[in-house]
Amino acid sequence: MKTISLILLFCISVFANDSVHEFAPSKDCQKCHAQIYDEFYGSMHSNATVDKDVIHKAVWNKQVAMTKTEQYSCGKCHTPAADNLDKMLKEGEKALPDAKNATHQEAISCAYCHRIEKIEEHKQSNTNIISKTSKEYYGSGRSSLDSPYHKIKTDENENFKNGNICVGCHSHNVNKAGLNLCSTNVNKEMNESNCVSCHMPKVDGSFSSLTDTKTHSFHGFAGAHNNSNMLAKHVDISLLKNIDHFIVNIDNRSSHALLLHPARVAVLKISVTRDEKTTELEKEIFVRVIGKGGEPSMPWMADSVIKDTMIQANEKRAVKREFKLEKGDKVDVVLGWFLVNPKVVEALGLQDEKVAAEFKVFKKQSFTF
Ligand code: HEC
Ligand code: HEC
Ligand code: HEC
Ligand code: HEC
Ligand code: HEC
Repeated sequence: MKTISLILLFCISVFANDSVHEFAPSKDCQKCHAQIYDEFYGSMHSNATVDKDVIHKAVWNKQVAMTKTEQYSCGKCHTPAADNLDKMLKEGEKALPDAKNATHQEAISCAYCHRIEKIEEHKQSNTNIISKTSKEYYGSGRSSLDSPYHKIKTDENENFKNGNICVGCHSHNVNKAGLNLCSTNVNKEMNESNCVSCHMPKVDGSFSSLTDTKTHSFHGFAGAHNNSNMLAKHVDISLLKNIDHFIVNIDNRSSHALLLHPARVAVLKISVTRDEKTTELEKEIFVRVIGKGGEPSMPWMADSVIKDTMIQANEKRAVKREFKLEKGDKVDVVLGWFLVNPKVVEALGLQDEKVAAEFKVFKKQSFTF
């Protein structure tokens, strides 16, 4: 008896996402939290939907075409404020993303995040448990006032303090074949830094129009799409010259791999300038390719990792080039990425979308000898 009820409980909570589906729209927060709203508005959290994110849309469309699914299970993390989230997650129902449904366009809304009470751990992906009281928000605990619009939960929510609030969606995403598509190594301890301190650093400006705090936590969510310059300090590039070769060291001082999503590919470009003539040396590629039967495949079909050269958490990667540097030589190093691996850009029909096809520079450095 006991095992049965446990299994049932497990199934229900994996899919039900706690059945709370009414959230104040993010626009409501703009009046009093204007700066936070502006940052959020441009972030991937506000734009995580099929209608606003062309990369997400392309992968979803491909999945629909190939599997004939009529359930937008992605909603669990991409549109958690949807009023029909239950249907999206319940096997056998029909629930597709709907451009005309305002709750679908809310994506990962202000009120959604600020009502995450706790997080349940599950094998496939974790589940956020949402507080039952609407218009009562958890926060950083920095408020000195009450808000005329909403209550502030004063009881401790450890998750907001230690950065765990993110791991309901970011911890892992295991597909039906049991392959973990994306992992942030949540069990990796880091001294004095966590998801929030790195991705939501304190920036200038008050956090509400009714008070005058000097700083607020950045809500643009620095990442591979936007504001990556804010994260550049966590990755060091240095160069070591030897007699007949040199080594570029990339020191990733973050708690997870340099890039996480399997669509990404990072590239290190190295060139040497001598007497005004520039020589491009071989590029180094960092990628994690997933697939089936040894061939790359789309995420829902993949059952294994077929290649992984991504720079891991806390890894210092040495990239060696057989090139003899001379006095006066200048070495230019550029570390950056494609959000969508150029090898699949066309298969996804994304070749004309700048966001998917362009090379994004993360860090540039020059060394003169
Ligand atoms: C368990 C939560 C979760 C589920 C379920 C989920 N995703 Fe995601 N997805 C994420 C997170 C977190 C990111 C950001 C990852 C990153 O940038 O490393 C993401 C990013 C993406 C991206 C990259 C988007 C971009 O603009 O770069 C694509 C594509 C994507 N997801 C497709 C899907 C599809 C299609 C589904 C449903 C079949 C789905 N995801 C289900 C959590 C999830
Ligand atoms: C009418 C003005 C007003 C509106 C609208 C408003 N807030 Fe607030 N909010 C405040 C004030 C005032 C504070 C407290 C500021 C202080 O103490 O300095 C606050 C504080 C907060 C805090 C901080 C809690 C803490 O202690 O860290 C959060 C989180 C928050 N609001 C979320 C929201 C969300 C989400 C919305 C929209 C759904 C919203 N607010 C809409 C006025 C407002
Ligand atoms: C409700 C689920 C959910 C929660 C909670 C959540 N995220 Fe996300 N996050 C996503 C999804 C889904 C995406 C991908 C959106 C897209 O690209 O379409 C994303 C994207 C991001 C990105 C952008 C990645 C890129 O490639 O640019 C960053 C950074 C990020 N999240 C950090 C955080 C942090 C930090 C927290 C905790 C404070 C957090 N997230 C909480 C679901 C979530
Ligand atoms: C992905 C989750 C997420 C989303 C979406 C989100 N927040 Fe936050 N917010 C947080 C976290 C985590 C903190 C605590 C940051 C800290 O401790 O430094 C926070 C802090 C705050 C604070 C406290 C003041 C501060 O700067 O420390 C306010 C006010 C706030 N958020 C309002 C909003 C509003 C308004 C929106 C939408 C426009 C929003 N948040 C969207 C996660 C989120
Ligand atoms: C020590 C700082 C640090 C910590 C702690 C950290 N990150 Fe990151 N994160 C980075 C850096 C650096 C990058 C790579 C640069 C970029 O994407 O702009 C990154 C990238 C990301 C991306 C984008 C990856 C992609 O492929 O699109 C997501 C999503 C993300 N982090 C989420 C998280 C979450 C969730 C946590 C907590 C479990 C976390 N990070 C903890 C520094 C950190």
